[in-house]
Amino acid sequence: MATVFAPGRVNIIGEHTDYTGGLVLPMALELGITFSGTTGGDRLALTSEGHHPVDLGLDAVDEATPLAAIEPSWVRFLVAVARRLGVSPAVEGSLRSTLPLGGTGLSSSTALTCAALLQYGAEGAPLALAQVARQAEIDATGVEIGLMDQAACLACTPDHALLMDCGDLSVSHVPMPPSMEVLVVHSGQARQLADSAYNDRRQACADIEAMIGPLRQADLGVLARLEDPIHRRRARHVITENRRVLDMVEAFAADDPAAAGRILAEGHASLAEDYEVSIPLVDELVERLDKTEGVYGARMTGGGFGGSVVALCRPGTDLDVDTWWTRARPGGGARIVPA
Ligand code: GLA
Repeated sequence: MATVFAPGRVNIIGEHTDYTGGLVLPMALELGITFSGTTGGDRLALTSEGHHPVDLGLDAVDEATPLAAIEPSWVRFLVAVARRLGVSPAVEGSLRSTLPLGGTGLSSSTALTCAALLQYGAEGAPLALAQVARQAEIDATGVEIGLMDQAACLACTPDHALLMDCGDLSVSHVPMPPSMEVLVVHSGQARQLADSAYNDRRQACADIEAMIGPLRQADLGVLARLEDPIHRRRARHVITENRRVLDMVEAFAADDPAAAGRILAEGHASLAEDYEVSIPLVDELVERLDKTEGVYGARMTGGGFGGSVVALCRPGTDLDVDTWWTRARPGGGARIVPA
């Protein structure tokens, strides 16, 4: 019997940049998924709080069964991982999540995928494992996600955010400055339409890059070469967002909360107006947080269309909101829990 833990994540800044080889600055949460189990055997049998127990014979999940036909749908992540690793998906055990359930945009699917990866015995460097997890998630969902969530889940270290260059996959660990605390606030709206809109944004970036070359190398001067106003706005988001990641790393190093707050506000405006992945409820929450005493700045976090908001604030700041929220200390990456 092995027990593994894999965290959710919140992205501080660097949104919709990973799939064009850009910069991201997520951190792992201390909340996540604990997966206890024994692999081998001839069943995939799991209990988990808040879900019906699952008990499937291996014939229900064998290679001949398309992932999309496997129910309940969360089991697809496990089977996709086992297929990527070339091992049997058989496992008996239990899952427990401290992440709030359902569409919070805190990468619970990635946490489940990475927990399964360790439970099925995968070994290797965190970023190599992250790439396997990403492929498995794409297999399970059909959404062509980038590498940020899996890298955050596997490569983060406590008390640090993870600066990753998604182009050359170099990472560095950025200490959280003493004057700032991270709050994560659920908007109350589960992520919706996220999958088709996500693939659509990705395609727009691919079309833009076919005209002007890599967005990562581009500056705002290239916008004049894009005829389509939507392309111009999408490109402007990605180019300025990469810049904001570097600016945030500087603001952290200088322990400058005013600058950090400004960067979050600009990031949110860019996602809402140029990338068009926010929704009015999330915009209102961001506005409300911006007016809260002690909050330096806030923005939507994750893929968008609902989900959660991240705020940087003075340590100890309390919120008056009626949705789920938490203070978030940067946690460590997925790991085997000693017996
Ligand atoms: C989702 C994807 C990530 C990333 C974000 C947007 O979380 O899984 O790869 O693209 O959206 O920044």
